[in-house]
Amino acid sequence: MLPWQIEVKSAEDIEGMRAAGRVAREVLDLAGALAAPGVTTDAIDALVTEETIKRGAYPSPLNYHGFPKSCCTSVNEVICHGIPDSNVLKDGDVLNIDITCYFGGYHGDCSEMVLIGDVDDAGKRLVKVTHDCWRAAIDYCKPGQPYSGIGKVIEDYIAPYGYTSVREFCGHGIGKVFHTNPNILHYKNNEPGKMEVGHVFTIEPMICEGVYQHIMWNDQWTATTRDGKRSAQFEHTLLVTPTGVEAFTGRLPTSNPYFWEDGAPMIDATRGLSVVVPDGGVPAMAAQPKPTAARAAPKAAPATPKAGFGDSAPASASSSKKQQKARAAVKKKKKK
Ligand code: MF3
Ligand code: CO
Ligand code: CO
Repeated sequence: MLPWQIEVKSAEDIEGMRAAGRVAREVLDLAGALAAPGVTTDAIDALVTEETIKRGAYPSPLNYHGFPKSCCTSVNEVICHGIPDSNVLKDGDVLNIDITCYFGGYHGDCSEMVLIGDVDDAGKRLVKVTHDCWRAAIDYCKPGQPYSGIGKVIEDYIAPYGYTSVREFCGHGIGKVFHTNPNILHYKNNEPGKMEVGHVFTIEPMICEGVYQHIMWNDQWTATTRDGKRSAQFEHTLLVTPTGVEAFTGRLPTSNPYFWEDGAPMIDATRGLSVVVPDGGVPAMAAQPKPTAARAAPKAAPATPKAGFGDSAPASASSSKKQQKARAAVKKKKKK
């Protein structure tokens, strides 16, 4: 696909992606349930590997551009792409677990925050507001909406709290390829592109208590906030339907309740499901033009050498735009 093109998924793709999203959701729920004080992120990773393979799927992060583990575990000031290791989770930590599963030829990508033991009120507020701005962005989505509006919804939502939205890493199109067009920027922008029925992409804002700039660790994956303050993130893989979006990675009745819920988890897999016929097919999608093969994941090549903190992401200018696109897409996977 050329940089400005967005694949319209076929009915077959959609069925496959719904299944992959379901696997990722199940694994995320199990991983989240294991997280607790004293547990290592390596233990979570081991469970993720086992449960993913048990379902006949493959953990997409494993060896993705050299990533060494099966999932990302990002604690406190880690913005994203934290690598599971032998460190134990501590009481008061806020943890993001990001799970991507490759199943039946498609990727399903999702993440959630888990509170480890007793988290202070500021940490809880960060997690709740991050969740709520993410939901607001999801609610904004429907056919005809400009992709650029997602970032505005998010930044407008978090502004009253003094939080900031990370610019260097973005959401992305997804399907047979882990990271593809479009880039989903979580901050105000003027990038072109409108949502159409059959588009599938992620929304995964990383919201910071302090500054959004990051420091890239020498492992070339772990990105922490420059000021050491905490960052939170949630992610879904979303399909644009005639009336809104369906979360392929939507929560199940058995999903772990959020800390602000009282035992009954919010179920969001149903958004958009009303337009899905009982057998799971999506007739409206069948007639859509079949996309050509997805392009290879763009290789990084930072468009604008920016000391590691690309904070711009300009819009326009065809040549640099193309680079940006590539650069942005790699972001989520990371710059590498
Ligand atoms: N799951 C991440 C995303 O949301 C990507 C992780 S790539 C990895 O796009 F290599 F770091 F695992
Ligand atoms: Co993603
Ligand atoms: Co992810």
